[in-house]
Amino acid sequence: MRRIPDSFVDEVRRRVDIVDVVSEYVQLRRTGRNFVGLCPFHNERSPSFSVSPERQVYYCFGCQAAGTVVRFVMDIEGLGFADAVAKLASRAGLELPFAVTDADGPAAPAGRMQRLREAHELAARAYNHILMNTAAGVQALTYLEARGLTRQTIALFRLGFAPESGDVIVRTLTRRGFDTETLVASGLVVRLGDRIVDRFRGRVMIPITDAQGHVVAFGGRTLSADAKPKYLNSPDTPIFRKGAVLFNQHQARRGIRATQTAVLLEGYMDVLSAWQAGVDNAVATLGTALTAEQAAVLKRYGQRLIIAYDGDSAGLAATERAMETAEQAGLEVRAVVLPDGADPDEFIRARGGQAFVSHMRTRAMSGLEFRLWRLREAAELQTDAGRTEFLRQALELLAERATPIEQETQLKKLSAEFQVSFEALRAELLSVRRRVSRKPAPALDLAAQTPPERDMPKGYVEAGNLLLQAMLTDPDCFELVLNRGVTELALPTQTALLALLYGFRADHPNGDMLAFLDTLEDPELIRLASSLMIKEPLQFDAKVLEDYLRTIRKHQLTVARQQALRALAQAQLDHDWDAVSRWKARLDELQQDIAELTSDPMNAGWRGKGGGEL
Ligand code: GTP
Ligand code: MN
Repeated sequence: MRRIPDSFVDEVRRRVDIVDVVSEYVQLRRTGRNFVGLCPFHNERSPSFSVSPERQVYYCFGCQAAGTVVRFVMDIEGLGFADAVAKLASRAGLELPFAVTDADGPAAPAGRMQRLREAHELAARAYNHILMNTAAGVQALTYLEARGLTRQTIALFRLGFAPESGDVIVRTLTRRGFDTETLVASGLVVRLGDRIVDRFRGRVMIPITDAQGHVVAFGGRTLSADAKPKYLNSPDTPIFRKGAVLFNQHQARRGIRATQTAVLLEGYMDVLSAWQAGVDNAVATLGTALTAEQAAVLKRYGQRLIIAYDGDSAGLAATERAMETAEQAGLEVRAVVLPDGADPDEFIRARGGQAFVSHMRTRAMSGLEFRLWRLREAAELQTDAGRTEFLRQALELLAERATPIEQETQLKKLSAEFQVSFEALRAELLSVRRRVSRKPAPALDLAAQTPPERDMPKGYVEAGNLLLQAMLTDPDCFELVLNRGVTELALPTQTALLALLYGFRADHPNGDMLAFLDTLEDPELIRLASSLMIKEPLQFDAKVLEDYLRTIRKHQLTVARQQALRALAQAQLDHDWDAVSRWKARLDELQQDIAELTSDPMNAGWRGKGGGEL
C-alpha cells in the first residue's frame, strides 16, 4: 500500500465538511451544537447518530460507530484509507498526488485499473446475457434451477454462463477496443500458442466483486461432474487479489453491520443458498484459507464471526485454522458443525433455511468449545489410556486458551463426566499451566490486570476521560499532562489512547487531532476518542486537571496494592520465596506512595519510580 502524503490528507480534511458528506447518506437535523440523524450503521428508530461541525467528528451513541470524515467514508463505502481519501479529494476538486490502489506492488496507473474494471463489467453482462437469453445457456440455467436457485437470486448475483466456444470474451472486448495485452492482463483471456482464447469455457460464471461492488474477478463452475478443476478462479490481477477479497463482501456488509456478526462459509454455492434462505451476512473465501487481511475486513464490519464450513474432516481442520486467524484479528469467533459432513448448501436444501439459521443460533460453539469437541472426537474414550490422554490434552487446552470462568465450567463438566475429583483436575491444571505459560518475573502489568470497567469506581474512569478530553481538545492541557509524565489511566483503552497521543505528538508536533484520529486503527480507541471529542466542551484549568491527575494516581496505587497482595499470597502458596520477597518490597513502596499522596496532596505521587522533578 502506498503512502499518501499527510499534508494532502490534511488538505482534504480541511476542504470537506463532515456534515455535507454525511448528509448524502443520512438525513441530519440540527440540535444545539451538533447534528443528529438515524445511524446508517445499525438499525434504529430514534436518532443517536451525532455529527459535530465544530470538531468534524461523528459518533453514534447507539452502536458507537465513530471517527472523522475519512473514517465515515471508509466505513459506509467499505473503502480502504487511500480510496476514501481519493473519493473525498475528488469531491473537493483536488488532484490526487498518487495512483489509488488497494493492491500491493507497483501501483498500476489509475486509468489502466479502470480499464480492467470495465472489462469485467462487460464480461459479467455478456455471461449473464448468454445464461438468461440464449440457447447456449439453457443447460446451465437448468442446472442452476435444479440446484434450487431462483431467478431472483441468479439476477441479484449476476450469475452467467461461459459457453464452450471459447471466444465470446475475446470478441466482445476486442470490439470494444481492448487490446490483447489488456485482455491477457485482465485474466479473462489466456494465450494459447499465438492465439488468445477465453479463460473460462463451459462454466457457470459467478462474479466476484470488490468492496465497492465492482466486478473484479470470476469463479467458474464446471457443468460436467468429472471435469477438473471443479471451480476455476480468475488469477490475481492489478484489480484483484484472492487473499484480500471475500465473496459477497459488498452485499453482506449491511447485514454484518446490522447484526455485528458475519457468517463465513466455504463455497460460492453456500453463500448463494444462504442468501436465498434469508442469511444476508454470509461471505466466503475464494477457495483458500482465511487470510489476516480478510479477517481484518470482517472486523471492520462487525465484532463477531460464525464459521460454518463443510462438516467433513477437511472442513473441520479448516475451521480451526480460520478460527485462529480470526481470533488474531480480534474477532469474537464461534463455529458450527453441520451434521453428516454436509456443507451449508446441502444442509439448507435438505432441511430449509430456517433450520440453518436456528442451527447457527443454538449450536454455535465458542472457540474453546469447538477445540474441546475436536479433541474429544479424536480421542479413544473406551480405553483408560485414551481417556487419560484426552484429559491431558483437554487440560493443556484449558491452560492455554480458557478464561478463568471457562476453566471452572469445563473442569466441572470434565469432573462429572470422567468421575475424577474437581480438586484433582484443578491441581493438574495448575501444574500444566505452570509448564505451558511459565511467566517470568511477576511484572506489574496494569493494562492486562486492571479490572473491567464495571468494577472500577466511576470517579477514576471519569477522571481519565476528562483528562483525555482535555488533551484532545485543548493544546495547553496536552502540554500540562505531558509535562507531568502521566503514562497510565484508569482503563486499558484510556492508557492506550494516551500512549498513542504522545506518540503522535512526538512525530507531528503540529498535527491536529483529526489527523490523530485517522491514525487510530482499533475501533475501540476510535470510539473512545471520538466520543470524547464530540462531548460538550468544558473549561479546563490547571487546578481541575490536577484533581483528575490525583484521582487517577490514587486509584492506580490502590489497584497496584491489591494486585501485589494477591501476588504475594500466590507466591506464598507456590513456595516461591524469591517472588515473596520481591512482592513484599513492592508492597512497601506502594504503601509509601499512598501515604505521600494522602498526606501531601498537591505534590506527591507522580515522582513514582525514577521520577525526576515535576
Ligand atoms: P458445489 O459442488 O458446486 O456445491 O461446490 P462446493 O461449494 O460444495 O465446493 P467445495 O466444497 O468443493 O469447494 C468450496 C470452495 O472451494 C468453492 O466454492 C471454490 O471457491 C473452491 N474450490 C473448490 N474446488 C476448487 C478447485 O478445483 N479449484 C479452485 N481453485 N477452487 C476450488
Ligand atoms: Mn456444495
